[in-house]
Amino acid sequence: MQQEKIDAIKSELAAADANNAEELEAFRMKYISKKSVVGELFAEMRNIPNEDKKAYGQLINEVKVLAEEKFQALIDKVNNSQKQSKSQDIDLTLPPTNISVGGIHPLTATRQRIIEIFERIGFNLSEGPEIEDDWHNFTALNFPENHPAREMQDTFFIEKNPDIALRTHTSSVQVRVMENQKPPIRTLSPGRVYRNEAISARAHCIFHQVEGLYVDENVGFADLKNTLYHFAKEMFGKETKVRFRPSYFPFTEPSAEIDISCQLCGGSGCNVCKGTGWVEIGGSGMVDPNVLENCGIDSKKYTGFAFGMGIERIAMLKYQIKDLRLFTENDVRFLRQFRPML
Ligand code: PHE
Repeated sequence: MQQEKIDAIKSELAAADANNAEELEAFRMKYISKKSVVGELFAEMRNIPNEDKKAYGQLINEVKVLAEEKFQALIDKVNNSQKQSKSQDIDLTLPPTNISVGGIHPLTATRQRIIEIFERIGFNLSEGPEIEDDWHNFTALNFPENHPAREMQDTFFIEKNPDIALRTHTSSVQVRVMENQKPPIRTLSPGRVYRNEAISARAHCIFHQVEGLYVDENVGFADLKNTLYHFAKEMFGKETKVRFRPSYFPFTEPSAEIDISCQLCGGSGCNVCKGTGWVEIGGSGMVDPNVLENCGIDSKKYTGFAFGMGIERIAMLKYQIKDLRLFTENDVRFLRQFRPML
């Protein structure tokens, strides 16, 4: 009686087939699950006389193994046929689905553009550390002992005596380059700088500058002006005007603030330029002879100019961004607007 049942199940198993997930599930219910016909055979065990239990056990185990092997074979079969039909379904003429790639951060794009402009007129790139010593950030640049930037409230010090601080400007790279290279020097140094400032729409404790330095024989103020005229027109467009406003930095003499005509109103006056028609993008000047001498360059033979501009400031003017904090908040609604710059 049991033998017949077992033989019947075996031949059913041999003939069983499945072509999709539903048929596989039907097979599993019928031959594999607890309530399957095979499961029933196991439940039957308690009605088998003790002396036959061993032989019966072997028989039903065989059926169980057969059922499991068949199930695996059918799973493989269904999977393979799905793969095949999928590969046959591919329509190569369909337009591709959009792959979402990131974009270039507006500050990175702005820095790249600035580098490009200066590279074309012969400036190379140089870098310095963000954690800087007193000599490179202050002393070699002619900062007097009691300059406010040397105060704890204005600068992030890491150590005092000897003083180690997060650099407050990229001018420190000027010193490093001049200490290590002989004129002619024409270099651009972009990088991050740190100041202990309250964060607002216009100021941040971390921002970016790009420093320019040109040292050679007979470099004059006209070279500085022409270089920055060229930059402003390349960066902001031909109509852009540049104005140099007398100023003071310990490491340049004479010094000048660089203003460009307001990108928003074109110079007629609006709230971005506070009605003046001009906005400041950085500082500049002729390298102070003391600084040249501090770096081992003969100030009787060589002269030079330097400038430092805020990259955030340039990006804000170029893309009309009203709040500096947007650059570091990682809001994708802001960042996505710059994706086409990839
Ligand atoms: N380092 C100055 C600043 O951060 C800018 C500057 C650079 C001025 C080079 C003159 C020459 O304000």
